[in-house]
Amino acid sequence: MKRAFITGIEGQDGSYLAELLLAKNYEVHGIFRHSTNGGAVNLRHLKADPQIFERTLFLHPAELDDVDSIRVPLEQCAPDEIYHLASQSHVGASFEKVEETCRITGLGALRLLELTRKLPKAPRFFHASSSEIFGSPEQSPQDETTPVNPITPYGCAKAFGTQMTRIYRKNFGLFAVNGILFNHESPRRGENFVTRKICRAVAAIKAGRRQELVLGDTSAQRDWGHARDYVRGMWLALQHDTPEDFVFATGKLHRVQDIVELAFQAAGLEWQKFVRQEKQFFRPADPRQVIGNAAKAKNLLDWQPEISFEQTIAEMMAAELHAVLNL
Ligand code: GDD
Repeated sequence: MKRAFITGIEGQDGSYLAELLLAKNYEVHGIFRHSTNGGAVNLRHLKADPQIFERTLFLHPAELDDVDSIRVPLEQCAPDEIYHLASQSHVGASFEKVEETCRITGLGALRLLELTRKLPKAPRFFHASSSEIFGSPEQSPQDETTPVNPITPYGCAKAFGTQMTRIYRKNFGLFAVNGILFNHESPRRGENFVTRKICRAVAAIKAGRRQELVLGDTSAQRDWGHARDYVRGMWLALQHDTPEDFVFATGKLHRVQDIVELAFQAAGLEWQKFVRQEKQFFRPADPRQVIGNAAKAKNLLDWQPEISFEQTIAEMMAAELHAVLNL
């Protein structure tokens, strides 16, 4: 039985990855933040299953800021694979919390790499990197060779973690890989990210609990995939013969406005009556032309996204409508 260690197991990606690995008969260990008390919604179904919880799934309280709190469960687990997914992952918030973002997202990755290197038997290491490392690139679509040139504090912190992962691979011989992940969504997405924010608001409007949806730049474009596809990519990246970086993306661009239209349509409402834009949600800098080329992942890992943008938004809307209206 293989053992995996996941930071950020309570998040969208961590919870889908835990499910995937448990289905592949892994023993899964994850760390959760004291502040959440291990009660995250995304893991409730796994914790409620006596066949799984504390038999093949183990949760440990730890903070990325406190190396010792991670070292103990990590050494006990002695994993074959580490998936480092935890970070301060909100790009907009990174402008307000610059130092904290660099500490958690950038330095956090380095701390994990250093702990990994010192384990008696170094496990394979996956770092969740981001398309934000490219900033607003000259070259489109982006791939593993695109110059790193972040324009947001979050992107800068991820660039640091990404480059450190490469340094540990080259200099310390770690099987360390970066998955350069473009946006990926699901009903488990955090509420501050634009897809979930829109879907939640539309369902609340449908239920008569809200009157409007206030957004930032609705012309902003992203390459949006589904999180379930991307965690499969993470696992595949660690099964490959050699440690390599991989872009995971759909290669398709959509606008925030497209999400708005699909979500309101799913609820049978006219978006024009409810949506307005406000300065507070515009970002000081927002990458443009963020679109990925995942050809390397397709060629070497046989990975490609299976869930479309439209299916993703439909699944998210169905979940939100069900939550508020039992529809
Ligand atoms: N969050 C938010 N809220 N975004 C808005 C809003 C709003 O009201 N209005 C417009 N947007 C625009 C943002 O300016 C951005 O261009 C786009 O919607 C997507 O924003 P987010 O959903 O917050 O995601 P992100 O692209 O900034 O970052 C996500 O993807 C990265 C790449 O995978 C995060 O998940 C990052 O952690 C991740 O690395």
